[in-house]
Amino acid sequence: MRAVRTASRSDPVWVAECQMRFYAEERPFAAQIFGGQPERMRTAAEMAEEVGADILDVNCGCPAPKVVKHGGGSALLKDHERLETILKEIKKAITIPLTIKIRAGFCDLTINAVETAKLAEACGVEHIALHGRTKEQGYRGLANWDLVKQVKEAVKVPVSGSGDVTTIEGAFARFRETGCDGVLIGRGAMANPWIFRQIEDASQGREPFQPSLADKREILLEYFDMLREDMPATPAINRMKQLAGQFTRGLQGGALFRTSLYHSHSVEEILSRIKEYFSAIETGQPYYGEAGAQVEEAPVLDSCEAAA
Ligand SMILES: Cc1cc2nc3c(=O)[nH]c(=O)nc-3n(C[C@H](O)[C@H](O)[C@H](O)COP(=O)(O)O)c2cc1C
Repeated sequence: MRAVRTASRSDPVWVAECQMRFYAEERPFAAQIFGGQPERMRTAAEMAEEVGADILDVNCGCPAPKVVKHGGGSALLKDHERLETILKEIKKAITIPLTIKIRAGFCDLTINAVETAKLAEACGVEHIALHGRTKEQGYRGLANWDLVKQVKEAVKVPVSGSGDVTTIEGAFARFRETGCDGVLIGRGAMANPWIFRQIEDASQGREPFQPSLADKREILLEYFDMLREDMPATPAINRMKQLAGQFTRGLQGGALFRTSLYHSHSVEEILSRIKEYFSAIETGQPYYGEAGAQVEEAPVLDSCEAAA
């Protein structure tokens, strides 16, 4: 017999389980958790293992105030004692590999990625990802990839770098310059989700895959379906506006299309605007969007807080 719990959006366990749902083809599947309380972090890690995650990642990079003020995300960069307790607690509780995502440091005066990485390795962390900006920097300026090199030289576990990679050449250059084991791509993949396949193609000596307009339309529609499976219509519509903003940059009539999405308030409107736009540009017709509309854009999605 299976125990049945009443599911509700106000039940944090149910919400967490929903957030950790994944498709079999997504394996290996890593669940990332954030927080500042060792006990709760351990419970969350246990839950992730229980729902089938292959890897447990601890977020020590999120700069969002609502995360940092509770001692989580990048707040852990300036509280190594707490970080050590959290990592040791989690390590005792799970059998899947434990990994960590860090930033350069909390602020310019306290750059400590190398120390954080060494501490994590000593606690049994098996992979370190570094976004070379500080918490205070947020997403301003450029990521410091020299720090990725320093971390790679300081620890034995694999190290990946993150920050500002948007092209195939950029990814190869970061591997070459730093000797890192992996390159993470965030915003670049939101604008071009085929970038991983293109890098793989190039590394195998193949011509990189070029998506057609039909591929772009299909992926927008598929993403919208997945959002609606995961959340109520309004947040799904808002996320869709943000993704479409990244995704259609450079396409003919893209700004007018994004404006028309920005002004859409229902699932049906979003779907018909996507179809309208792509059928115009796929057949080479000009796209005029809404008559007389001023170009307006959804806010840029550039932090974990925006995505939360
Ligand atoms: C919308 C958004 C959401 C993000 N959410 C997370 C997150 O949940 N966990 C995390 O470790 N990093 C998160 N990041 C940070 C990225 O993993 C990455 O380190 C950062 O964006 C820099 O890389 P990029 O220049 O390739 O985007 C997020 C970034 C963006 C833009």
